[in-house]
Amino acid sequence: MTQIINKAIVMSTRPVGMPKLADFSLQSHNIDSYNLTDGQVLIKNHYLSLDPYMRGRMSLKKSYAEPLQEGEIITGEAVGEIIASKSDKYPIGTFVCSMSGWQTHFVSHQKSSALYPVFNDQIALSAYLGIIGMPGRTAYLGFKHKAKPQPGETIVVSAASGAVGSVVGQLAKQQGLRVIGVAGSAQKCQYVKQQLGFDECLSYQADDFEQALTTTCANGIDIYWEGVGGRTLNAVAPLLNEGARVPICGFISNYNDTNVAAETPFQVLAKLKPTPEHGFFLVSDWLDEYPTATMALAQGVIDGSLKFKESTAHGIANAPQAFIGMLSGKNFGKQIVKLV
Ligand SMILES: NC(=O)c1ccc[n+]([C@@H]2O[C@H](COP(=O)([O-])OP(=O)(O)OC[C@H]3O[C@@H](n4cnc5c(N)ncnc54)[C@H](OP(=O)(O)O)[C@@H]3O)[C@@H](O)[C@H]2O)c1
Repeated sequence: MTQIINKAIVMSTRPVGMPKLADFSLQSHNIDSYNLTDGQVLIKNHYLSLDPYMRGRMSLKKSYAEPLQEGEIITGEAVGEIIASKSDKYPIGTFVCSMSGWQTHFVSHQKSSALYPVFNDQIALSAYLGIIGMPGRTAYLGFKHKAKPQPGETIVVSAASGAVGSVVGQLAKQQGLRVIGVAGSAQKCQYVKQQLGFDECLSYQADDFEQALTTTCANGIDIYWEGVGGRTLNAVAPLLNEGARVPICGFISNYNDTNVAAETPFQVLAKLKPTPEHGFFLVSDWLDEYPTATMALAQGVIDGSLKFKESTAHGIANAPQAFIGMLSGKNFGKQIVKLV
């Protein structure tokens, strides 16, 4: 093998508000596998992960990570197969996850901390980007460290049908909590209740959402898993019990907001008396626990106690459309792009 045509999606212009297709462009360049240096591998990606945090990378808003520059490949994780190798550690044929970005091929060094092998062939390759990848670990580790769950408590989980929320709710059910999901449509709510086993799921798009949440949580809310902000947070806030915990995983309703005066969850929660325990966390706060979390999640998938759903776009050219869709709830489950 010599020349490979790599296709990549770059951020051609920095999006303002909801990203548009014109903010992205598809570019091609050649990779010569003979040019690999010692320790390098060439990966052919099978699946790309599309995640809400990528919208933050496209913005110049203050963040924990450096922003992308115009013309750069969109950041992101992928899973694929090594098709050329100058590494003793990763021979040709090894399946790996890497921080490839949105592209069909990627050259990585074996020493990259973001490169790791797929470890179980009983599990679909794409799941390494979802339930047993970064989103699953976010749910597992954030819930373990920040939610402080007690059996019998009531937890409300936002973005309940999505990559992170679906796992949080299932773990909470396993630990004896009463689990109320919130999602964007009746179809998603039905899935959350019937397939994932939540006790209830309400649509924040419904006219009577606030009233329905108040009735459903007649004894208040002990834990609110925050992933969305906006209307859901405003409905939850007055129902939080004394001693409530609010792990802030994200607030997607704010990510495309151009209104600088829009309230963040920190502002909404800080005004409450008593103020619930709350704080933003990153999954990478617990890097040393990744192996344990990943193994526990993988075990749950294998024994059927953890279920997941994926939304699959096909072909790298369709990644921008799928990403835009995810930011408005068109995905139903973990959003991935199938390349092979
Ligand atoms: N802190 C961390 O380390 C970390 C790691 C991973 C993810 N996160 C955060 O966790 C949250 C969920 O991420 P995910 O990967 O699991 O995504 P996801 O839930 O699979 O997909 C995003 C979902 O957000 C919902 N959404 C979109 N716009 C919304 C709006 N304006 N108001 C309310 N909901 C909206 C949609 O679901 P509906 O149709 O139900 O509205 C959409 O399906 C995000 O805030 C993300 O940034 C944080």
